[in-house]
Amino acid sequence: MDSQSRAEFLAQLSAEEKQRLLAHVLRKKAQGQTALPWETDPQEWIRDAKLDPRIQPLGQASRHTDPHTILLTGATGFLGAHLLHDLYDRTRANIYCLVRAADEREAQERLQANFARYFAHPLDSKRIHPLVGDMSQAQLGLSPQTYAKLAEQTDIIVHNGAHLHHIAPYALLKASNVDSTVAILELATTAKSKWIHYVSTLVAAVDRDTDGWLLEDFPQADPSELAGGYSQSKWVSEKLLSEAAQRGIGVTLFRPGFISGRSDNGVWPSENDHLLRVIKGCVQMGYASDSSLMPNMAPVNFVSEAIVRIALSEDTPGQVFNLANPHLVPWVTLVTWLQGCGYPVNLVPKDVWREQHLRNVDKENALFPVLPLYLGGDITERFVLLLSKLATVRNDGTAGMLARLNMSFPVIDQALWQRYVRFFQESGFLPRPA
Ligand SMILES: NC(=O)c1ccc[n+]([C@@H]2O[C@H](COP(=O)([O-])OP(=O)(O)OC[C@H]3O[C@@H](n4cnc5c(N)ncnc54)[C@H](OP(=O)(O)O)[C@@H]3O)[C@@H](O)[C@H]2O)c1
Repeated sequence: MDSQSRAEFLAQLSAEEKQRLLAHVLRKKAQGQTALPWETDPQEWIRDAKLDPRIQPLGQASRHTDPHTILLTGATGFLGAHLLHDLYDRTRANIYCLVRAADEREAQERLQANFARYFAHPLDSKRIHPLVGDMSQAQLGLSPQTYAKLAEQTDIIVHNGAHLHHIAPYALLKASNVDSTVAILELATTAKSKWIHYVSTLVAAVDRDTDGWLLEDFPQADPSELAGGYSQSKWVSEKLLSEAAQRGIGVTLFRPGFISGRSDNGVWPSENDHLLRVIKGCVQMGYASDSSLMPNMAPVNFVSEAIVRIALSEDTPGQVFNLANPHLVPWVTLVTWLQGCGYPVNLVPKDVWREQHLRNVDKENALFPVLPLYLGGDITERFVLLLSKLATVRNDGTAGMLARLNMSFPVIDQALWQRYVRFFQESGFLPRPA
């Protein structure tokens, strides 16, 4: 990473994240290691995947098809708003949403403002309750009284919150992505047993069958191939939860691929979306690589409905669901659809794209903060492996469940892509083509 990209990366971090990164770098220095902080030794994160022996089930795990009380994390995010909507619609439960805020009023405002990006109606304050907290803290940053009440009342936990960052090192993401899962497991096994529905990601999957396809099962294989702190932190969480499941704690894992915008109106927040960063970067450059990657994507409203309906189902064929859309769209097709919308993006061989176009971008280009992932070498190869495996994923359990629920995987076609592009133009994310 050159000094400019490093500065860009640092500028995105909060004061707390910078402090954590600094502590990590100083620790490395003290150990005489000169490795860049995002190149984490697998042993450093794999060792976090050991579940504390004190976390034990409280009796028989029960799935709760009609929960009275639900805890949802990450409700101020993209998928979280939709999970909140669907959990509200499909249950009669009180839904507690853990929100980072100075006080309850701000938490309520953040929740409502995020919800309003996707839905026209206000939140029902009789059944939806913000809780000021921070899932990276012990007891989720809640007061002892609130924690005790939540522990006594909650039936199911939908643990969806995470810090999404494709270039941040594991050390920076551990608090929000791993410590949070430990805190959720502690809550799930305090006062009464609660079922945990965890939103993971397909990039964290490493177990394959003999054909090389990713399995729809709890993790067992060596995860050293995983590149980047995000996939590593999500794998550690999966592993902790899989150990919890072996002990008899109720756990379901959901693994989406890329989550795309709403299928009806195309709303797709661009602030923190990797695929959109790549698309915008290519539009700005006027060139795209002829990569053979097939981004595995599904609209957010489908992903949310599938998670909520499977979570509320009486019985399921397993506890791990690969929400891998079999309707794959090759990257080059997405680029031709962009061309069809009037954007003059030329497809060029990937070496030409990298050496003649990508290497010359400045910080105005959307790809600038993530350049090391694409500029070649080991990090690029590992990142490409991370994405390319999403084209070969077993999803038999999910497909069977969707059929039972009268749902099916959504087709990603040119008409949907045009809705997305219209939204990008209206929101100012992409300029209208000349
Ligand atoms: N987006 C995708 O394409 C994709 C693909 C596969 C899997 N997933 C998974 O889906 C889930 C949701 O992703 P998303 O795209 O909706 O992400 P998002 O929009 O970035 O939302 C993340 C949510 O997590 C919350 N959060 C993060 N750290 C927290 C902390 N320490 N304490 C409390 N809340 C915290 C955020 O709260 P603030 O608002 O306070 O930041 C936000 O509500 C994640 O688990 C992610 O790994 C996403």
